[in-house]
Amino acid sequence: MAADPFDKAGLHQAEDVLKAHGVDAYFRAAAERTGDSHIIIDGRRVLMAGSADYLGLSTHPRLVEAAVAATRRYGTTVSGSRALNGTLDLHVTLEERIAAFLGQEAAAVTTTGFQANLALSALLGRDDVAFGDARNHASLIEAVRLGWGKARSYRDPEQLRSRLAAAPDGGGRLVFTDGVFSMDGDVADLRELRAVADAYGAKLVVDAAHDMGVLGVGGAGLAAGLRVDLITSTFSKAFGSLGGVLAGPRDNVRYLRSNARSVLFSAALPPASAAAALAALEVIAAEPERRARALDLAESLHNGLRSLGYDTRPSTTPIIPVRFTTMAEAGTFWAGLFEAGVFTNLVGPPAATTPALRLSLTANHDESHVATVLSAFHDVGGGRGTDLPPVTMTR
Ligand SMILES: Cc1ncc(COP(=O)(O)O)c(C=O)c1O
Repeated sequence: MAADPFDKAGLHQAEDVLKAHGVDAYFRAAAERTGDSHIIIDGRRVLMAGSADYLGLSTHPRLVEAAVAATRRYGTTVSGSRALNGTLDLHVTLEERIAAFLGQEAAAVTTTGFQANLALSALLGRDDVAFGDARNHASLIEAVRLGWGKARSYRDPEQLRSRLAAAPDGGGRLVFTDGVFSMDGDVADLRELRAVADAYGAKLVVDAAHDMGVLGVGGAGLAAGLRVDLITSTFSKAFGSLGGVLAGPRDNVRYLRSNARSVLFSAALPPASAAAALAALEVIAAEPERRARALDLAESLHNGLRSLGYDTRPSTTPIIPVRFTTMAEAGTFWAGLFEAGVFTNLVGPPAATTPALRLSLTANHDESHVATVLSAFHDVGGGRGTDLPPVTMTR
């Protein structure tokens, strides 16, 4: 008998197992968001400690007003692709400004960051080899699967060096890395990757999803001031909006926007999202204190957790992982925190190598919220009694 192709497991099965143990962590619907520091779920007000809205911009009046004004002016959607009927002056302005912000010659705005990364598949010809950090985001991994050519993963710059040395001559070589790894919150050593890539004539592509707006000089990301060949990113995190970006040399950006299928065959970024991303660029420049607050609060939460004995290594960024041995243990802890009024993200394989709670605060939180999270951890799990060194934040 033929297998049933619909008979797949995955997250829904894990979700059912966890639910049977009283852990209802996925697809929870919020009825309201209050400045992104709290949400209402099932009539209960819980502290949101798992949002990637790092600068708290998604509810900033300037972004909200810009989105409303753009919707009134252009409508809710452009109903078409960028190449045909879907380009607005807003997209063009956003591309000029984001390219300048990232220190790149040109940029193409896409509908999501996932699509921006998928577009990279168009760079992979039959003779090319793509080298990707094993911890890269799923969208970078998919780009490599989708492209022609060979895929090699690496764990660190040294292993990349040996894999590059072993690569066949003749084809192109591309190194793909996240700037900040989205599950563990640790950062790629971009200087070292650049040096290794240069030694073997490889291009370096960096996904700045979690660092753009938050880290680096002026919030321009970890690649700011470094020579990288292409930057991809998203407006769905620190920019408080939605949308993706590919930024690099003008010819390459033009090639990608008119050849990559995830860009060419998808409706353009809605007017509200483009306008919100443009407003975010202005707020990031005008209110640098948001960046400082997000990083200070993250540092405080890291160190508070560490002083309770919860290990947040290897993160040095606002993505704060607390690891557990089993999914059941992590799920039970998640449920305890939720009961105590704190919402965190429960992650596990294959997204993360180890079961973990992933926490992040935004610039709309304050020290009282850090105290709430810490006291919930203490109430649910007690102290863990180990002495852990304080974090050295990447800024
Ligand atoms: C590292 C990284 N790259 C890309 C993406 C995709 O971004 P978007 O939400 O815009 O599709 C994410 C989002 O989770 C991410 O964490």
